Amino acid sequence: MMDVKDRYIIDTIIEKCEGVRDPALIILQNVQEILGYVGKEYLEYVSEKSGYPLVELYGIITFYPQFKLNPPGKNTIKVCQGTACHVRGSDRILGTLEELLKISPGETTENRLFSLESVRCLGCCGLAPTIMINKKTYGRVKPSNLKNILAEYEEVDQYVVE
Ligand code: FES
Repeated sequence: MMDVKDRYIIDTIIEKCEGVRDPALIILQNVQEILGYVGKEYLEYVSEKSGYPLVELYGIITFYPQFKLNPPGKNTIKVCQGTACHVRGSDRILGTLEELLKISPGETTENRLFSLESVRCLGCCGLAPTIMINKKTYGRVKPSNLKNILAEYEEVDQYVVE
């Protein structure tokens, strides 16, 4: 259910795009940036207010992988898959996180505590392999460290690597 604040935010985004030619993509990018995702209810409201058919808005968000249809988890884990991290074993880091959290990149755990993303470069290649959780960067990560890293964000006895 959308609250008044969300409606106000979307109204403001649409107003600011007045005069912009074909602003659908810009509107949706702003919705995602400010509200964190572009859920069904947001799309319906954008459609109602902007006059864009819902099917066209869905077409945009399914075309561009940056859009999230579901709200992100409380903590977002970004796993670098850039070249420097790749040669230092980032595949195993990602694989272990998938195993621990039981999700793939682009997904959120059932308890909504973690979202997992695979990214190209976190900008600290000297520390490869790297991950970032929210705004905190972890360098020279080993698969065996991940359980303890996740534990910083929850009492996590349920995350057991066999
Ligand atoms: S390649 Fe991973 S931080 Fe740059």
